[in-house]
Amino acid sequence: MARVVTAHVCSACGHESPRWLGQCPGCGAWGTLAEERVTRGGGSSSTGRGGGGGRSSGGSRGAPAGRPTRLADVTAPRVPRLQTGLGEVDRVLGGGLVPGSLVLLGGSPGIGKSTLLNMVLGRLAGDGRRTLYVSGEESAAQVRLRAERLAIPGALDVPILAETDLDTVIATLEQERPDVCVIDSVQTLHDAELSGAPGSVGQVREVASRLMGVAKRLDVATVLVGHVTKEGALAGPRVLEHLVDCVLQFEGERERTYRTLRAQKNRFGSTNEAGVFEMRDSGLVEVLDPSARFVGEATRAPGSVVLCAMEGTRPLLVEVQALVSPSELVPPRRVCNGIDRNRLALVLAVLGRHAGLSTSTSDVFVNVVGGIRIDEPGADLAVALAVASAARGVVPGGAPDADADPDAPPAPPVACFGEVGLTGELRGVAHGDRRLAEARKFGLAPIAPERCPTLRDALRAAVPGRRRPAPA
Ligand code: TYD
Ligand code: MG
Repeated sequence: MARVVTAHVCSACGHESPRWLGQCPGCGAWGTLAEERVTRGGGSSSTGRGGGGGRSSGGSRGAPAGRPTRLADVTAPRVPRLQTGLGEVDRVLGGGLVPGSLVLLGGSPGIGKSTLLNMVLGRLAGDGRRTLYVSGEESAAQVRLRAERLAIPGALDVPILAETDLDTVIATLEQERPDVCVIDSVQTLHDAELSGAPGSVGQVREVASRLMGVAKRLDVATVLVGHVTKEGALAGPRVLEHLVDCVLQFEGERERTYRTLRAQKNRFGSTNEAGVFEMRDSGLVEVLDPSARFVGEATRAPGSVVLCAMEGTRPLLVEVQALVSPSELVPPRRVCNGIDRNRLALVLAVLGRHAGLSTSTSDVFVNVVGGIRIDEPGADLAVALAVASAARGVVPGGAPDADADPDAPPAPPVACFGEVGLTGELRGVAHGDRRLAEARKFGLAPIAPERCPTLRDALRAAVPGRRRPAPA
């Protein structure tokens, strides 16, 4: 008869210890031991690591052989997806929730994960789907109050279970058999057989893998909410990321209204899609044309430039702002929001070395407006132009009332994209034609590697400095 016990297993070398230890006696790594359930006597552990059972090298230990099937002979029925009715969520998921799939939704506290999932379940309940919301963080009353604020017809029809015990949750799933279930959050549930506190790596892994089993067995599409740590990693675990079918990240800044939903991993669709939402009093509202919103709100002042970014297959125009001011600090400040610090350092170095624009005695601040985060090298040129425009006090493309002929039509604002290379060249980025088309759609003049081979050329075209003679 198998006996269930737990062991603390090192994630680096696999060493097992009956107690938790700060340092692994096997490999000397610190903080790598996590509690796991180990089934003795049965010969194998639930997590697949060799437990105490004799691990023989080579040999099948008498197991019957499996029967491989040619891929063409595998039956793969097309299961219809569960449309959430929130177009942006469905798009990021690759067309809706797949029945029986396990989705992890990560995001920092207060960003709107519970709100988003309340809305998703409300929509599905309104469509006649069976839903279940398991809340380990908030009481049923708190969840009801939030649901009342949402302008979604089915929001109050969603059944809720306020519970943190994993066995009770699984028993409820077996009884209720919902089509879709939300676990808010995976860190608050605990398996009573493990001694670790809720939220510890061992608990989170066990909770997720048991829920995975239930999801597949009962065909329940399950969404796990996971908090992210300060470093931005999904707490507990990378382990969860490879266990689940789909990892979504909900991000933005709490004080701002815009939120983006991205897929980081998706077994059933592309990973680059992103949806933009706005947090209002009545919940999250999809922003259907974010480019129009951001271009409309752009300031057209020195230090501001429009970036033609790509969010998956969709071009997105966003405003990038910079401020350059004399510094007393050595080294001076480099502060950025929405772009990678190392990319900023690179762009500033290339501006200094290859475009004659030194910022070595200035503080530089760069911000992507709206709390949007841009993670592609195509943003380099926008950062460079925003910094140059701020340093020179010139509006990219020329101010609407430039020193030009008053009768001449004002120069259109520019929109740019391109990667800045270390030798000062501009490098093409993916989907150049889509980006150009998006810029033209909004009447913006594109500055792109296709027209400007070097950063110096781009600066000459967009922020030529004050001494420029008025264009004829
Ligand atoms: P919440 O969904 O609870 O965040 P999370 O689950 O990610 O921790 O909501 C976060 C914030 O959103 C909360 O501070 C209040 C705000 N909010 C609104 O502005 N409008 C609304 O309609 C709702 C429900 C919340
Ligand atoms: Mg929440």
